[in-house]
Amino acid sequence: MKQAGEKISSLTAYDASFSALIDQLGIDIILVGDSVGMVIQGHQTTLPVTMEHILYHTRCVTRSRQRAFVVADLPFMSYPTPQIAAENAARLLREADAQMVKLEGPRYETIEFLVQQGIPVCGHLGLLPQSINLMGEYKVHAKTVNDAELLVEQALDIERAGASLLVLECVPAELAGKVSRLLTIPVIGIGAGVECDGQILVLYDMLNITQGKLPRFAKNFMHGAESIAAAISAYHQAVKQASFPGKEHSY
Ligand code: KIV
Repeated sequence: MKQAGEKISSLTAYDASFSALIDQLGIDIILVGDSVGMVIQGHQTTLPVTMEHILYHTRCVTRSRQRAFVVADLPFMSYPTPQIAAENAARLLREADAQMVKLEGPRYETIEFLVQQGIPVCGHLGLLPQSINLMGEYKVHAKTVNDAELLVEQALDIERAGASLLVLECVPAELAGKVSRLLTIPVIGIGAGVECDGQILVLYDMLNITQGKLPRFAKNFMHGAESIAAAISAYHQAVKQASFPGKEHSY
């Protein structure tokens, strides 16, 4: 799709009903994100999410999807070493039918090891919710020249390590565009501007049922929509036509 210039649409899902709907409406990728901890479990961060939680929700999602590609998050502290990462990632593929795992940060050695074991990997740079206690707050990342250069290097090294996909979260749109052009693998943005190869949103954000204020990068697709299905279709079309995200959703 990247080579053909077709934008990739992705949404998170955590259960069989939404997974089936999203799948039927043509969304390309479903992410069983550790955002489950915040939007389903009601925690303030993603840190309390465990392997058992992600396994359970991934099974719910894969049971009802027919065609969408399913990526499952490796939760906090499930990949402290390459060996432990491989054992946990294998469970997501073997026991829950995920097709790829996502992990946060520049963990090149782990990515390389997983790929050697036959496990496809999605990297994740920019805002790293699992490192919120180090980062301090949920905010835009890589705003300085030095941080932007570091992010470009890390993205290239993640690709070299063998990742098949990269999520960029909350980084300036211009930088995300540059990374998307530099990398061969698709770059999926959330709060990273329209020039990424694809977009992802947390389902509950775009349906406007997340508690509290919507993050700047999310859009309420229920506004003006007759149904949840119509809102998801509008998101899919907006991603494909590159009319979402707009400047007002970008940094
Ligand atoms: O857990 C999640 O939903 C994610 C997305 C924000 C990319 O990682």
